[in-house]
Amino acid sequence: MSVECFVTGGTGFIGQHLLAHLSAQGHSIRVLMRRPERLPALQEQVRSLGGNAARVFAVAGDLERENLGMSHADREVLKQARIVFHLGAQFAWGLSLEQARAVNVEGARRVALLACGQKSRLVMIGGYMLKNHEHLRRIGIDPGRPASTDWPAVYRRVGGYEGSKLEAYFATLAVMSAQGGEITVVHPATVCGHSRTGHILSAQPLAELIRNLVQGKLAAVPGTTEHWLPLVTVDHLVELVAACAFDPAMAGQELLALDEQTPNLRELLAQVAQPLGLKTPKHHISLRLLKLLLSIPLVARLLNANAESLDFIQATRFDTGALEQFANRHAITKPDIRQALQHTATFVNSYCIGEGRAR
Ligand SMILES: NC(=O)c1ccc[n+]([C@@H]2O[C@H](COP(=O)([O-])OP(=O)(O)OC[C@H]3O[C@@H](n4cnc5c(N)ncnc54)[C@H](OP(=O)(O)O)[C@@H]3O)[C@@H](O)[C@H]2O)c1
Repeated sequence: MSVECFVTGGTGFIGQHLLAHLSAQGHSIRVLMRRPERLPALQEQVRSLGGNAARVFAVAGDLERENLGMSHADREVLKQARIVFHLGAQFAWGLSLEQARAVNVEGARRVALLACGQKSRLVMIGGYMLKNHEHLRRIGIDPGRPASTDWPAVYRRVGGYEGSKLEAYFATLAVMSAQGGEITVVHPATVCGHSRTGHILSAQPLAELIRNLVQGKLAAVPGTTEHWLPLVTVDHLVELVAACAFDPAMAGQELLALDEQTPNLRELLAQVAQPLGLKTPKHHISLRLLKLLLSIPLVARLLNANAESLDFIQATRFDTGALEQFANRHAITKPDIRQALQHTATFVNSYCIGEGRAR
């Protein structure tokens, strides 16, 4: 059965793959676009990722604007959307609190109000840090009493992007609970390229890590042998997100999308290095020391790295029991993360070298 969907962030990395997946399943998708004139390019991309481009439409708008900057006519059409997928976010390092809040927190609130107002289910993309309660407490958030959080202090500790993603999650839950709306949240780990093609966008954090290895900017492995950068492949993630959206049992539920088979960071780099014939760094550098070094702008520029990105490298392990049950119930199989890493490395080496990014 074809379902009308509305997607924010449809032009982004996860968004493009979600559009391809949903449209291939026969659903119709309206995409919030700041630059709707780019619809033909987006449709071409959807086609190349295996989707049905004829089922993808643009809605002009902006998360930063009142009523998402949409016309009255577009809002009327959107009322048919049974599911609202909220992926749109300013995903960058070094954002100020004001910049990050304007899009990530206020934008999420606006999308939540829209979903509630028209009784659509909201499927929101959070982030796996929200499932690390020890980390949340360490940075000043009590998950049981989020209203008592000193948000500016959190932003100072973890940076604008992560701070705003955390705040957006609690702000959205508050709107949904006050308005009696239906929400499902999926919390992805860092997203790896497509498990078969390796497709990834150049600005993604994993693409940046691979680029740094290729360009010899990674002289040591950050953290210890306990540290890892939990991953999920983009194709597995969008399958999970779509299955969540259409599963009545997932109303009011959350899902952690993280592959617990992701190797530690040293082995991850070895997987990346292998198809490219590169050497992996032998030594480790403590995260604390690296953070200190990256606080020196020249070093950060030379290493092409940002201290904010280091928070995603962790020693914490996560309980993925609920994810396995969910995937089994929907007959979703998990791709081999090591092979996916090798394909992603090959893709980045072929298409994303020399493309600097401001993130
Ligand atoms: N990738 C990861 O590793 C990862 C991990 C965990 C969670 N997430 C979350 O997953 C979601 C999608 O991530 P992604 O990696 O696909 O991000 P991405 O590639 O950076 O895409 C971001 C999307 O948000 C849109 N956007 C930004 N500002 C906007 C605004 N003011 N109004 C409307 N749209 C706006 C962008 O549209 P334009 O084309 O107009 O720029 C783009 O479509 C985000 O919420 C992110 O926090 C990502």
